[in-house]
Amino acid sequence: MKKKPLVLGLVAVPIAYLAGAYYLYRKLLLTILTRREILTYLWVVISIFFLLLAYSCYYIFTFRQKLREHKKRQKKSFFKLKKANEGALKALLYALDCRDHDTWDHSTRVAAYATALAEKMGLSHFELKKIALAGYLHDIGKIGVPDRILLKKTKLLPEEWEMIKRHPELGYDIIHQLEFLNNTADIILLHHERYDGEGYPLGLKGEKIPLLARIFAVADALDAMTSERPYRAARSMEEAFAEVNSLAGVQFCPECVKALEELGVETLSRIQKHVKSQDIEKFRLEEIVPCSDLL
Ligand SMILES: [Fe+2]
Ligand SMILES: [Fe+2]
Repeated sequence: MKKKPLVLGLVAVPIAYLAGAYYLYRKLLLTILTRREILTYLWVVISIFFLLLAYSCYYIFTFRQKLREHKKRQKKSFFKLKKANEGALKALLYALDCRDHDTWDHSTRVAAYATALAEKMGLSHFELKKIALAGYLHDIGKIGVPDRILLKKTKLLPEEWEMIKRHPELGYDIIHQLEFLNNTADIILLHHERYDGEGYPLGLKGEKIPLLARIFAVADALDAMTSERPYRAARSMEEAFAEVNSLAGVQFCPECVKALEELGVETLSRIQKHVKSQDIEKFRLEEIVPCSDLL
């Protein structure tokens, strides 16, 4: 029960009692009663009134105490849950880093680009956290791709690409198991969709792809272009920028490309340099991703 209605209810009882007693008193005055009988009646009424009042005060006092204890217990269990969620998240990130350090590096940069883009597009604080988390976890499905394909130093064969293309669904299946990460699972599933519908795994087109996934696709591709691959050298930020621009409305959402343009090469290069200087040992998860925001 909430505190306010309870207090109102407890105050209403003595008042209703007094009103009833007064009504009865008026009725009794019409009958033949001695002065002594009326005084006895008044004495009984007033005594019961004070008893009721004392009981109400006692009840309110103990209720407040119980409420305070309940809030304390709630805070404690929330803190425990938050710690457990952060632990689960850290375990996933460490697993990703152990499996393939390059993917981890790529994930931190994508998280930073995507968050900056989302911020430029005026998205809410909650959405920013969501996209940051998705950034760190978006390629977690690569855990399920065999080493001979994931770590291959030469160009991939078509059937090997098919295996790689399974990683958004694998990632979705992993992340979907954790309730507090549920709302990032969709971005993970859809991060390789293309604006023209030629992406995977669902082949969604245009606005049917959620905005966060469209933003994400730009950030992910930008980092892929500016990173070294076994079969090609890394492109400069300017070159990648020009390529993303040329693919607006084809591979990428024009709105997101416009936001990227507004961010500018200089800011993106600064983000790239900053993320490069980070490493997982220094990574303070609770500062970057307050999981409580997503609960
Ligand atoms: Fe991916
Ligand atoms: Fe990626």
